[in-house]
Amino acid sequence: MSELSVNHLLGIKYIQPKDIELIFKTADHFKEVINRPIKKVPSLRDITIANLFFENSTRTKLSFELAEKRLSADVVNFSAAQSSVKKGETLIDTVNNILSMKVDMVVMRHPNPGAGVFLSKHIGASIINAGDGAHEHPTQALLDSYSIRERLGEVTGKNVVIVGDILHSRVALSNIFALQKQGANVKICGPKTLIPKHIEKLGVTVETNLRKALEWADVANMLRIQNERLDISYFPSTREYTQQYGVTKDLLNSLDKEVVIMHPGPINRGVEMTSEVADSDQAIILNQVENGVAIRMAVIYLLASKIKQL
Ligand code: CP
Repeated sequence: MSELSVNHLLGIKYIQPKDIELIFKTADHFKEVINRPIKKVPSLRDITIANLFFENSTRTKLSFELAEKRLSADVVNFSAAQSSVKKGETLIDTVNNILSMKVDMVVMRHPNPGAGVFLSKHIGASIINAGDGAHEHPTQALLDSYSIRERLGEVTGKNVVIVGDILHSRVALSNIFALQKQGANVKICGPKTLIPKHIEKLGVTVETNLRKALEWADVANMLRIQNERLDISYFPSTREYTQQYGVTKDLLNSLDKEVVIMHPGPINRGVEMTSEVADSDQAIILNQVENGVAIRMAVIYLLASKIKQL
């Protein structure tokens, strides 16, 4: 397979295992490029990309912008806070205004689930979902699986536990789809109040005891407690959450194997894990960030190749 089966990256749900393989193979090449003294290729000199962020971001926004610049694309950045969205402009009007400036591709983060899918039905540009509410964050899941593959050799057959606030997490849903499409076993772990009802229907198992989950796991992906999305109290206190679901070095040392620790960021240090764990060799958190640039270069490059064929 030499091209993606889709014209947009709206969610992992919409892509095939072969697409994931192609993205990883392409990312291998770009990872080599970004480790050269000159970290840039001229591939997308004829492509213009708009990064539309209607919600805050550090890693994803910077990572996409770096990926685009390392592919030599022209880049425009839009942040809702400083835009006419505040004056009541609709999403389609905002995007159509940007597209009339001859933009080929849109990278969009939006608080509403399905915003990318909605937009893809109304505009001609290729769309990459950079996170839509609690729905999907496909490039995060791709870089997470790519980082597991890099550390453990493969994803197929590995036991991966996703820990924490599953209810409000786009990272959890995209990871479940991505890991399953590659043949990994997925468990989720957290307080019952933060686990969606009927999640087993997605083919995952549920465990509320962190020690038991870690005894089973090769990899633990620790999710952030999303205080900004917690409309009510889902656990008695942050201290109590940390006592039950925070990873410490003592807990990891008491297991009879080494579990790889991941986190999509931003970390609440001392809540999801101690600083000692976050900064240890067992954690691949900064590898995830580094791999994010190569993965996003691969996704942009492969989607742009389809635009060029039109
Ligand atoms: N992982 C992630 O999406 O981080 P940001 O919210 O900083 O982009």
